[in-house]
Amino acid sequence: MPLIAIFASGTGTNAENIIKTFSSQQNFQFIVFCNNPTAEVLQRAEKLGVPSIIFTRRDLYENGTVLQQLLAYKPDLIALAGFLWLIPAEIIQHFPDKIINIHPALLPKFGGKGMYGERVHRAVIEANATVSGITIHYVNENYDEGQIIFQASCPVYSWDTPHTLAERVHKLEYEHYPKIIAQLLKK
Ligand code: GAR
Repeated sequence: MPLIAIFASGTGTNAENIIKTFSSQQNFQFIVFCNNPTAEVLQRAEKLGVPSIIFTRRDLYENGTVLQQLLAYKPDLIALAGFLWLIPAEIIQHFPDKIINIHPALLPKFGGKGMYGERVHRAVIEANATVSGITIHYVNENYDEGQIIFQASCPVYSWDTPHTLAERVHKLEYEHYPKIIAQLLKK
């Protein structure tokens, strides 16, 4: 049975969408890794009957706890969905081509440290961009720089706020992230 580990830090609508999409298709297992004990994603996971692991900075960067947990669970894919910390090199080395991220803009623009969620949409609007979208990419040691797997675009309107643009981009995320995950699991 394929196991997908989802790393999330916040609201978790993508995590929920992925879990629901796959649960309705066939037997998949999930585990949510979260660095924020008050994140909404934890309640979403619980409602869906998905186990979660809360970890600290030390667990990720210093004492190897997160790596040990991943090695024990042996996920077929690790999908970041609104996860805000950098994945350490040691984990990347243990899971080559198995860690992917979704970014709410068209990389290589509007990425990098500190560029997440609403901040990305605000930057897109402030740059007067007329197109935005999503990027799904492999994770490497730098924020938002791994090899791009898939992009989809949407218009940015003159009247957009970060909130209205986020809604449009979220729709693309919900449509495409599960599909790309499914394709990668078949490889
Ligand atoms: C998503 O839009 C995701 O692309 C973005 O955070 C949001 C999380 O929403 N990720 C980044 O900005 C990473 N740089 P969610 O918690 O509702 O899925």
